[in-house]
Parts: sequence; structure tokens; C-alpha cells
Amino acid sequence: MNGVVLELDHAQSADREQFQRAVLAGLSRRPRAIPARFLYDARGSALFDEICKLPEYYLTGTETDILRAHAGEIASFAGPNCALIEFGSGSSVKSRLLLDAMDLAVYAPIDISREHLDGSMARLRRDYPSLAIEPICDDYMALADLPPLPASSRRLGFFPGSSIGNLEPHEAIAFLGKAKQLLGPRGALVLGADLKKDPARLHAAYNDSAGVTAAFTLNLLRRMNRELGATFDLDAFAHEAFYNPVDGRIEIYFRSLAEQSVTVAGRSFAFVEGERVHTEYSYKYDIPQLETLGRTAGLQVTRIWTDPDRLFAVVYLASA
Ligand code: AVJ
Repeated sequence: MNGVVLELDHAQSADREQFQRAVLAGLSRRPRAIPARFLYDARGSALFDEICKLPEYYLTGTETDILRAHAGEIASFAGPNCALIEFGSGSSVKSRLLLDAMDLAVYAPIDISREHLDGSMARLRRDYPSLAIEPICDDYMALADLPPLPASSRRLGFFPGSSIGNLEPHEAIAFLGKAKQLLGPRGALVLGADLKKDPARLHAAYNDSAGVTAAFTLNLLRRMNRELGATFDLDAFAHEAFYNPVDGRIEIYFRSLAEQSVTVAGRSFAFVEGERVHTEYSYKYDIPQLETLGRTAGLQVTRIWTDPDRLFAVVYLASA
């Protein structure tokens, strides 16, 4: 066995320990909840990529269209020789629009999934042979510092996909404040955020007819079975997603279809029929809320780009 394999084994067992701790804590408290980041194991990440291609899931296509239309303007706002730092790069598809438009000193994608990061880095190195790439395998929410990047270059953060929607407002403000600090005094952030709209449209986006979103939610049960020796019967739980207009968010759960008991890592958890475990919020914003969010974190909205139907917003925030 060589060093690289050993290192991966350590990382994997640390991940599993964290997962187990979060799941046991999340199932022990009321209301029950498991943090959304655990949805993204290899299969979960692949299912999320499928969600992005669904006809009902307008977010990805709309944001991509906005970025394609305005990448040149974003590039001129940021100027040449930037360090582009992507928070949660996944498969780095949208970043390519910025890579194509910008004259970058370095691209630093941050992603928690080693598989995703390795796969997309290989493709990027092939397609952008002269680009300096500095991949960072980490949880961007927990990141204390960035590796040394060219000192003179402006740091431009990129947080697309409405990932900010997963965060509760106080967490979103904390994230933006953290990003501001990581990006430094001349830093700026390109943020993608899903906008408030007809609840029926939102409902459809999180309850697709092909059942991919349901499979994405229920994959968490599969992951607990595999990694934590849990005994979830995948047919005895259902995906549930609805729009909560008071808090302006989609709420996602898995719900027990019967009274049942499940073992997780040797501990037994009882579920009554209809009992839910929360897995995700997906907050929807309007433009004034986005401005307030930025301002509260010490960032100034310089520019907002949106689509003709005002489904989605791409926001340029500058360190104020
Ligand atoms: C990755 C958080 C942007 O909230 O739309 C999509 C996650 N969950 N369908 C979203 C998600 C179910 C997605 N984000």
C-alpha cells in the first residue's frame, strides 16, 4: 500500500466519523435534521448533476444563460490577473464560462468531494493547459485560510448555483463575511441566487416528475445504510418538499410512511408514521433581500444580472 492510498483511507474514516456523529446527533434531537452537505457522496453528487438537467429544475440552465450573456462584463468588472476562487466547485461547468472570459492568474476551486475535484481537475487541465489550477479539497464553510495565491492579484470569489440557498440567513451572512475576509480588501464575489417566484414553479423544481430529487433525498438513507450500518427500508420513507412562503424557502425532508424502528450505528431510533427528518432548506430571495444580505456582511452590490423572467440572479458583490 502506498502513501496516497493510506492518506485517502484516513480522510475517508475521518469523513465517516463526522457523518456518524452528525447523524446520531441529528436523529436524537427534535426536530430531527441531518445537515445538507452529507447528501453529496459520490452517488448523491451524480444525482445532483442529474437534477441540474431536469426540465423542471430551471436554476442551472437559467444561471448558465445569465453567465454566458454577461461573462464579458463580469470579466471587465474584475479586471485582469485575478485569482478565481470557487466555493463548492462540483463539476466546474459554470466556471468554464468565467475561465473563457477572464484573464486569470490562477483558478482555485474548493470542493468537499475528492472524486468530484479530481475528475473535474483532470478535464480542466486537458482543456486549459496553460491555466494555473490550485484545487482545494475542503469544506468551504469550515475553511480558515486560503493557500498562498499570487499576492498582487485580486481575489474574485465565485459562489454559483444558489448554494447560498442551503444556508439559513444568519449562516449566509456568516458565509459572506467569511468570504469577504478570505478574498481580502480588493476582493469581490460573484454570487448566484434563486429568486422568489410562483410557488407552483418552485414546487415543481423540487418534486420533479422523473423522481430524481426524491432519489437524491433518499440516497441519504442509502448512504447511512452503507456507511453506518443503518437499517433504513428505502420503501418505507418518502421525499417531501414544499414551499414555505412565510420564511421564503423550500423545505425538504424524508418522511416515515409507517411506525417503525431503525438501527443506526448500533443505536435504535423509533419513528411514528408521518414523522419527518429535515435534510435541506433552499432559500429564495428578492433583490432587496440580496442587497441587505450583502450589506450586513460588509459587501456592496455593484451589479445584478437576471434573466427575462426574473427567475434567477447573478450578483456582483464588492468588498465595501
Ligand atoms: C445545490 C442547494 C442549490 O437548493 O436547489 C436541488 C439543492 N436539492 N434539489 C437547491 C437541491 C434538491 C440545490 N442547491
